[in-house]
Amino acid sequence: MDPVVADKRLTRYKTKLDAVEKILEDKSRELFLANQEEQKANAYLQNIIRSMQSCLIVTDAQCTIQVVNQATLELLGYELQDIEGKSLSILNVEGDSIDLTNIEALSSIDTLVRQEIKYRAKNGEKVPVLFSSSAMYDAEDQLNGIVCVALDLSTYKMLENQLLQSEKMASIGQLAAGVAHEINNPMGFIFSNLGTLSEYVEDILVLLETYKSLEESVAKSDLENAQAQLTKLKQTKKELDLGYLLGDIKELIEESHEGANRVRKIVLNLKEFSHSGQGDKTFANINAGLDSTINIVWNELKYKVTLDKDYGDIPEVLCHAQEINQVFMNLLVNAGHAIKEQGEIKIRTYEEENYICVSIADSGEGMPPDVQRRIFEPFFTTKKIGEGTGLGLSMSYQIVADKHGGELQVESEIDVGTVFIMKLPKVSNEI
Ligand SMILES: Nc1ncnc2c1ncn2[C@@H]1O[C@H](COP(=O)(O)OP(=O)(O)O)[C@@H](O)[C@H]1O
Ligand SMILES: [Mg+2]
Repeated sequence: MDPVVADKRLTRYKTKLDAVEKILEDKSRELFLANQEEQKANAYLQNIIRSMQSCLIVTDAQCTIQVVNQATLELLGYELQDIEGKSLSILNVEGDSIDLTNIEALSSIDTLVRQEIKYRAKNGEKVPVLFSSSAMYDAEDQLNGIVCVALDLSTYKMLENQLLQSEKMASIGQLAAGVAHEINNPMGFIFSNLGTLSEYVEDILVLLETYKSLEESVAKSDLENAQAQLTKLKQTKKELDLGYLLGDIKELIEESHEGANRVRKIVLNLKEFSHSGQGDKTFANINAGLDSTINIVWNELKYKVTLDKDYGDIPEVLCHAQEINQVFMNLLVNAGHAIKEQGEIKIRTYEEENYICVSIADSGEGMPPDVQRRIFEPFFTTKKIGEGTGLGLSMSYQIVADKHGGELQVESEIDVGTVFIMKLPKVSNEI
């Protein structure tokens, strides 16, 4: 080749090579910058996750935990290596409203719905959290994993329980006079029956003494004395009207027994009621709960209210029974307050497809719409100081809706009355 041509070609190649080199240099520079940016973004993301107060867990499509933040580890007492790569089901609490072992259920939860559930901590304790989850999908619309966000509710729960307990105590305080009266009444007739019974015993003792002397005379074959004692015996029996006396004794004992039972029941109901019912939900008989609550509030109602009970044959409900009884008490006392002179309270229990329902209807004064709008607000009351705390319905709403996933509905019409309907979700107790 002509050296001049070759040289030209070489120069051309060199120029091309320079250009390629330049492009390469630019590209690798871009790559470096992009890499740096990605690292920065990654660190930024990690920082966000680390400093989140809420507990964050991200799983893959098999519910295996991929990402877990510091707040979760601290709340549940886990180390990262205890939990990373494990199934989300290690946090599941059996019977909770969300099943953490079920990926389909988790991915179908509406993100806007937050629910109170419990996470199982490393030491086995159940920690209440406000939980929400959302599903992640890839470009092909395949499930990629689940993002779970939870907020620790322990302190809030503790305060809520304290408030619940003090509201309960306040309402018992308001009912105390009535309960005392309910106890005092049977105690009054038990006391008077005991007085009569001891008089009867005195009389019977006189009879027994005469019998004893008669027995002794007969044993000594002292017929004359025996005859005299027999006459005395007959006369005393006639004076005492022994037939009536024996019948009356039976009646007095039965009546006292029934009274003592009533007192025992009220005291027992009261004890059950005032007990702070923490712990897990159990299956409870709603009709029996209504009856024991009626026992406590009866004195508030009995002078002005006729009670119409229509209990359905309903299955047991998974609930915090004491709290549900507290709701009944609030509704019944409110119904009693709304009836100024004479009226009726109708209590009905029945079953719907997904709920067990209790309706408490009163023929009281009803509420205007501006009151009805506010009744579930804490401390809202239209009553005088000492008569109402304004907490009854807000607590009841919390118990029914937040703690049990149920509903508390109200309908009211001025001068006609008010109906409260409580609905609790039906859960099968067949294992
Ligand atoms: N059955 C009812 N009939 C009429 N008004 C009612 C009834 N139940 C509740 N209310 C109204 O709702 C308010 C709030 O009730 P609640 O939260 O139980 O507090 P409180 O009874 O201490 O006032 C009452 O003050 C009353 O005005
Ligand atoms: Mg009330």
